[in-house]
Amino acid sequence: MKNPDYDQLISPSRRNLMKFAGVGALGAAAGLAACSDSASASAPATAAAAKVTAPAVNPDGIAIMSANENPYGPSPMAVEAMSKELNNLNRYAYPLTQAFAEKVAAREGVLPEQVLVTNGSSPILAAFSDYVNVKGGEIVTSAITYEGVPRVAEQAGTKVVYMPLTQDLGYDLEAISAAIGPNTGAVYICNPNNPTGRTIEPAKLKAFIEDASAKVPVFIDEAYMDMADDYPAGVMSEFVSAGKPVIVARTFSKIYAMAGQRLGYGIMPADMAMAMRKTGRLSSVNHLGLVAGMASLDDKAYFDDMRLKMIKGREKLIAMANDLGRPYAPNPQGNFIYMDLGMNNQEFADKMLEKGVKVVGSRWADKPEWTRICVGLDHEIEKCHAAAKEILTAI
Ligand SMILES: Cc1ncc(COP(=O)(O)O)c(C=O)c1O
Repeated sequence: MKNPDYDQLISPSRRNLMKFAGVGALGAAAGLAACSDSASASAPATAAAAKVTAPAVNPDGIAIMSANENPYGPSPMAVEAMSKELNNLNRYAYPLTQAFAEKVAAREGVLPEQVLVTNGSSPILAAFSDYVNVKGGEIVTSAITYEGVPRVAEQAGTKVVYMPLTQDLGYDLEAISAAIGPNTGAVYICNPNNPTGRTIEPAKLKAFIEDASAKVPVFIDEAYMDMADDYPAGVMSEFVSAGKPVIVARTFSKIYAMAGQRLGYGIMPADMAMAMRKTGRLSSVNHLGLVAGMASLDDKAYFDDMRLKMIKGREKLIAMANDLGRPYAPNPQGNFIYMDLGMNNQEFADKMLEKGVKVVGSRWADKPEWTRICVGLDHEIEKCHAAAKEILTAI
């Protein structure tokens, strides 16, 4: 039996189905209810418009500053859209996935066939690793970067070549360029980089992509790009529109605060997207995530507010590091900082947890005394600051 995931997606005949969803920016949810037989027979959820007046609160009272999440909660429009759809979860989400891909394609200047929609962006990173594994060749990336691609690649037996960071903890594009050779299968770039928060100057990155993508596929992970000062100049979608073998991945887990709901997408050459769909392992996209994602993309005021909040949050973290007298990777551009503790990072994380603050422990082996701390609500950042001060002044 054929896997319905890929043959129901992005096929022109299915596009008509989208029409039932009234696929424009708004109204996918309303359209679904209006045009689906079953939806009109069994009343869709009539929950009153959800009011998001308070951010998500961690019931344990622990300030979770370890996972680069958005502590403020999702767009009220996203919550409302989801609440209206709670009675419509019996159908597969293929038409809505198609609608979402259309919407993304229009925003990114690519064809819907070039959009791979997944449950968060992690599956895209993993699918890309698998894709390279099947094609053959090594992956060249940087030391101290996000593990999504390298970890899966290594598990499958693909060799990953890690080039050291520059002195100021940035990606060393010259070194990465020089490392691309006959054995290279792909390049992975995380910009802004997790955990350092460093970005690559757009013109420099563009020159690199132009050159490298003539040799191998280049993956650009832009999970945090919409929080960067350089946004939108740092966005590299134009290479995908131009038909280069470039993949740009985005997630709704960060600025859109949907880490627990899951939604992400990658834009890439259509044949690559099809090859990844055909694995049949990416059919996990869920209906609520899609309606929330559509609504989030329409909520410009929320986006602007969150961008500001993430920037303010990282400024507070920088002020904290300065007050603690601890060095940090300069000019961080995500919702986190990468800080030199002057003590073992796991020991620090354990002590912080005792004081009700969760931060990253030993994760990037090259720097056993550095940790990544991400934004929390204001009072959580204050709690983190006070706890870190106690711990670090005692050493
Ligand atoms: C750089 C980067 N890419 C991708 C992801 C994957 O996130 P998700 O699967 O929630 O989209 C993360 C998560 O922290 C990340 O930091």
